[in-house]
Amino acid sequence: MACDDGAFASFAARSRRCLPRLFADYVDGGAHGEWTMARNRSAFRQWGIVPRGLRDVSRVNTAVSCFGQTWKTPLMLAPVGFAGMLHSDREVGGARAAAQCGVGMAISTFSIDSMEDVAAAGAAPFAQIYVFRDRALTRDMLARAAACGIPGIIVTVDTAITPVRERDARNGFRHLSRPTVMQMASLLRHPRWLAGVAARGVPRIGNLAGYTTARGVMAQAREMAAQIDPRLDRAGLEWLRQEWKGRLIVKGVMHPQDAAIAMACGADGLIVSNHGGRQMDPAPATLDVLPQIVEAVAGRGDIVLDSGIRRGGDVVTALALGATAVSIGRPWAWALAAGGQRAVVAAINVLSQEVTDVLGLAGLTDIPALRAQGTDALWKM
Ligand code: FNR
Repeated sequence: MACDDGAFASFAARSRRCLPRLFADYVDGGAHGEWTMARNRSAFRQWGIVPRGLRDVSRVNTAVSCFGQTWKTPLMLAPVGFAGMLHSDREVGGARAAAQCGVGMAISTFSIDSMEDVAAAGAAPFAQIYVFRDRALTRDMLARAAACGIPGIIVTVDTAITPVRERDARNGFRHLSRPTVMQMASLLRHPRWLAGVAARGVPRIGNLAGYTTARGVMAQAREMAAQIDPRLDRAGLEWLRQEWKGRLIVKGVMHPQDAAIAMACGADGLIVSNHGGRQMDPAPATLDVLPQIVEAVAGRGDIVLDSGIRRGGDVVTALALGATAVSIGRPWAWALAAGGQRAVVAAINVLSQEVTDVLGLAGLTDIPALRAQGTDALWKM
């Protein structure tokens, strides 16, 4: 996604310079015509936040409790597959940045650092998992998550099918295990990136390497992606609920009936997400479907919204419409690519400051006050 209107524009631009094109396009791109991606942003433009004065806003507290944790800003880093290929700081660097800033963090099934490594970095990350066709393998991942102290799993339910992402198709992204001359040339044009990746040894999908004999990240990813169970239904979610004793969060919910099913199956919370426009295209913006989902959940669990969050105002708007917190995918990936852990800290700080500014200018001193105000804090444009 071209990021021309967000607090993260400079990180996005820098990441495109630091990464070989096929990785930059992998991060930026979306499915099919990329309409969903565009709509995720334009949806925020429908709302203004009404400035309020004559109130003491000398102290603004943006802390929130979500999914059993307390975050200093209502923000979580979303699971991003292959994030560890973007910079030598890898997912552990992202997790350390999240811990340093006091925000939430989730690591992808398709991460380069394993969940054990990320958990050992002291970041209390959530582990995003897929339900695989092979339930014994899924069960093993759950056992590993429990053993390394993962507080909750995030099961992603919007990936039954992998749609064409045209940028990836053009770049032959999924066939990188046998690079063409053009691909090699593109990688070699980024020697710093290459040295960073190589410095940590031959990359593998840390979470999954033990389940496949395939060599190389892309071959491993292809084999394991084919394992994601497209038959996952209500019974599958009930099975998962029985198997996993910790917090269960369902990600990729876009319809109130799906939200109701997830909650009836014993989910502790939801992530309203269209995968940043990387799956269904055209889909509605997450912000547009949020109110119906809030109504369906009726306070039974926390709701995080992602897809298109780029500004503090976006965060405040989502919370006014009923989200407990938000998460960001590309923005932290851009920052990681641009400058590793330090840049992720900087990016989170930029967003946190914007949240504080907007909240204060709306005459509100904390998140409960914003939630109480709800849509009264907003102006429909
Ligand atoms: C993702 N996302 C994702 N989600 C998930 O559940 N498992 C995954 O492995 C991935 N991988 C992934 C890779 C990349 C490069 C991106 C950009 C995204 C989706 C992610 O968690 C989140 O839903 C979106 O990124 C949110 O949209 P924004 O913030 O990128 O607009």
